[in-house]
Amino acid sequence: MNETIIEAINLKKWFPLRTGFLSTLLRSELYVKAVDDVSFTIGKGEIFGLAGESGSGKTTAGKLLIRLIEPTGGKIIFKGEDISRLSENRLKSYRKKLQLVFQDPYESLNPRMLVEDILSEPLQIHGISEEKEISGIIHKVMEAVKLTPPDEFLLRYPHELSGGQRQRVATARALMLDPEFIVADEPVSMLDVSIRAEVLNVILDLRNKFNVAFLFITHDLALARHICDRIAVMYLGKMVEMASADELVYEPLHPYTRALIEAVPVPDPTANRISMVIKGEIPSPVNPPSGCRFHTRCPSFIGDVCRKKEPELAEISKDHYVACHLYSKA
Ligand SMILES: Nc1ncnc2c1ncn2[C@@H]1O[C@H](COP(=O)(O)OP(=O)(O)OP(=O)(O)O)[C@@H](O)[C@H]1O
Ligand code: SF4
Ligand SMILES: [Mg+2]
Repeated sequence: MNETIIEAINLKKWFPLRTGFLSTLLRSELYVKAVDDVSFTIGKGEIFGLAGESGSGKTTAGKLLIRLIEPTGGKIIFKGEDISRLSENRLKSYRKKLQLVFQDPYESLNPRMLVEDILSEPLQIHGISEEKEISGIIHKVMEAVKLTPPDEFLLRYPHELSGGQRQRVATARALMLDPEFIVADEPVSMLDVSIRAEVLNVILDLRNKFNVAFLFITHDLALARHICDRIAVMYLGKMVEMASADELVYEPLHPYTRALIEAVPVPDPTANRISMVIKGEIPSPVNPPSGCRFHTRCPSFIGDVCRKKEPELAEISKDHYVACHLYSKA
C-alpha cells in the first residue's frame, strides 16, 4: 500500500440514548454503540470501501474520520497528526483537506443557490476572494468532474440539472479546496443505474489524476469491488473482515460477508435481500449480543465460544483480516 493518508485507531462513537425515567431510576446511561473499537488505515490515492447493512456504523465512521463528529474513544491520525480532539479553530486548516460527498445531492445542495455560488462559497469561506482566481478554480474543477462546458451549468439551479449532474456539482464542491481525502457516502445509490457509471468514473479519475483518497461507503459489494482497492465489512459497529476488493468478494471468509455476497444477485432492489440469506434483523446496537455480535444470526455458529468470546480481527492470510472463531489458531 502507498503511504498512509489517514488512520483510525481503536475508534469509538457511542451516542448516549435518552431514556428519561428508566435511566434515571437505574442511574445508568445507555449508549448506541455505533462504532465500537475499529482500526484501519487508508493510503494516499486509495479507494477504501466500507460495506455492511443499514445501521452497521458506516456513516458514523465516515463522519468521525473527517471530524464532523467527535470520537468517544480512540484516535484519528491524518498525515501523521492526531486530529481526534482538535478544537474547531485548530481543525479549520484540516477542513479543506477532508471533504464529504453525500448520498442525496438534492438534500446537500441549496436549491436557492446557482451552481456558481455553490462552488464559490467554500473558497470564500476560506478567504479566497479574488474573482478571477475563483473563476479559474471553478472552471478547472468543473472540467475535472466533466461538467463541460462550465458556462452551460454555472447559472443553473440544482433543480435544473439531472441527478448525475447534481452529484457531479456536489463532487465539484467537495473538490474546490483541493482535498486529499473524501468520504463518499453512498454517492450513487440514489442515481439511476444508467448514470451511475459516469459518477463512478469521475471518482476513479480524481484518484488517478490527483491522487485523492476516498472512503467509499456502500451497501453494494458488487459496486465496491468494481471501484475499491480494499473493502472492509462492518457489523453492529465492529469490523468483521477486511481484504483487497477482489479477495473479499471472490474469497470471503467471514459468515456475514458470505451472506452479504450471496444476497447480491437478487434483482428486486426493494427487497430486504440480506434477510433472505440470514435469519432475522440486525440486533440493537444499544445492547449488542455477547461474544461475537453476529452469533444470533450466524449460519456457521460453533457453540459457546461464539456466544461468550469476542473474536479479534486477525490477519488470516496476507492482508486479509477476519474476526471469527472459525479461523482462530488456538
Ligand atoms: N446522532 C445520532 N444519535 C443517536 N444514534 C445515532 C446517531 N447517528 C447514528 N446513530 C445510530 O448509530 C447506528 C449506526 O448508524 P449509521 O448511520 O452510522 O449506520 P450506517 O451503516 O451508515 O447505516 P445506513 O446504511 O442506513 O446509512 C444506528 O443504530 C443509528 O441509529
Ligand atoms: S465467531 Fe462464531 S458466530 Fe461469529 S461469525 Fe464466526 S462462527 Fe459465526
Ligand atoms: Mg449511512
